Amino acid sequence: MSRVLFEITENELETGLRGFPIGYCPTSYVDPQKGLFYADHPISECAHWEPAQVLHLLYHGKEGSAAEVADFAKELERRAPCDPSLIAYIQKLPRQGHPMKLFSAALLLAAGFEGTGDYREDCLNLIAKIPQIAAAVINHHAGWPSSNPKPHLGYMENFTHMLGVPDKSDTLADVLKLFNVLHYDHGGGNLSAFTGKAVASGLEDLYGSLAGAMCALAGPRHGRANQDCLEFVHELSEQLGNSPTEAAVEKALRDRLASRQLIFGFGHAVLRVEDARATVQYGLLERSFPDHPLSKLVLLLRKVGPKVLGENPKIADPYPNVDAVSGTLLTAAGFPYPEYFTVLFGASRCCGIAIQIVYERLEARGGKGLPIVRPKYFFRERGA
Ligand code: MLT
Repeated sequence: MSRVLFEITENELETGLRGFPIGYCPTSYVDPQKGLFYADHPISECAHWEPAQVLHLLYHGKEGSAAEVADFAKELERRAPCDPSLIAYIQKLPRQGHPMKLFSAALLLAAGFEGTGDYREDCLNLIAKIPQIAAAVINHHAGWPSSNPKPHLGYMENFTHMLGVPDKSDTLADVLKLFNVLHYDHGGGNLSAFTGKAVASGLEDLYGSLAGAMCALAGPRHGRANQDCLEFVHELSEQLGNSPTEAAVEKALRDRLASRQLIFGFGHAVLRVEDARATVQYGLLERSFPDHPLSKLVLLLRKVGPKVLGENPKIADPYPNVDAVSGTLLTAAGFPYPEYFTVLFGASRCCGIAIQIVYERLEARGGKGLPIVRPKYFFRERGA
């Protein structure tokens, strides 16, 4: 007899499948109280690991020995350079539109130049090559110069080297590395992971599935929230000046709520505490950039936001999420370009989604893989 796990009432239809269990995720999970875990490690524990060590954990489901991680890093290094024709075609994409459109298009192009038709091979190649693909998209869209890859520098050091951002600071590589590690995965049910796996369930290849996943990530309710959040912080900063007080921040938030304007960087579909990924980033902001003009404001928002939002009983999670501080940290480290934040998020999240796709296609159900996704909708006349 199979256990009943969940009951669905009529009232739960049209609620975004919120919390409906539908499968297993072997890479990570999100506990409403404890936050994100990569395999069995809380994110606070792996936040400062090297990318190859974290990617090994997600890919193999277990922490690697020093030798295993070194081999994995070498493997990624070997696979890193993209076919030069792929980069040349990315550089021919139209610059109009949001950079996430170019990023999804670049993944579709990558299927032709890099695809092998084998999900496992494509997954490792994708993880290795995504820094160059993302750097090519950002440089092309921004009109910045591009540099040839130097994978021996290290996974995110190479990405930082390839980014043509003007006046590159010494702290940028460390902040980009932390950002990258914190965004690899967030359980199986977030919209981009779910979309990527749903597309792959029709047996679309890995690159096409990830292009679909990245279209899902591009929306302002999902990945683009990090861009919107920094724009919100800038607006408040212009309004409150360089030395905001707690009382002024509280008043500004209350005024925004009263005029039905959005407050960004708070709340999450699953979490009911401060996002552990935000906690790690606040720590780095306080240690490395205490005097940056936006730091004080963002730290006051951390304090005042939950108080003001928590007064509304309809808000289940009034606490800071990962976006509350990531944009300020990137800005303080010399990357003040919110338009590209979602591409940075996507370059990281593609890794976790690719590994989840490998599981669902090749390992789940004793290796048979999952069938095509096909939920049921009831017919109901419009307006009924
Ligand atoms: C996140 O990283 O917070 C997300 O992908 C959103 C979610 O988990 O639903």
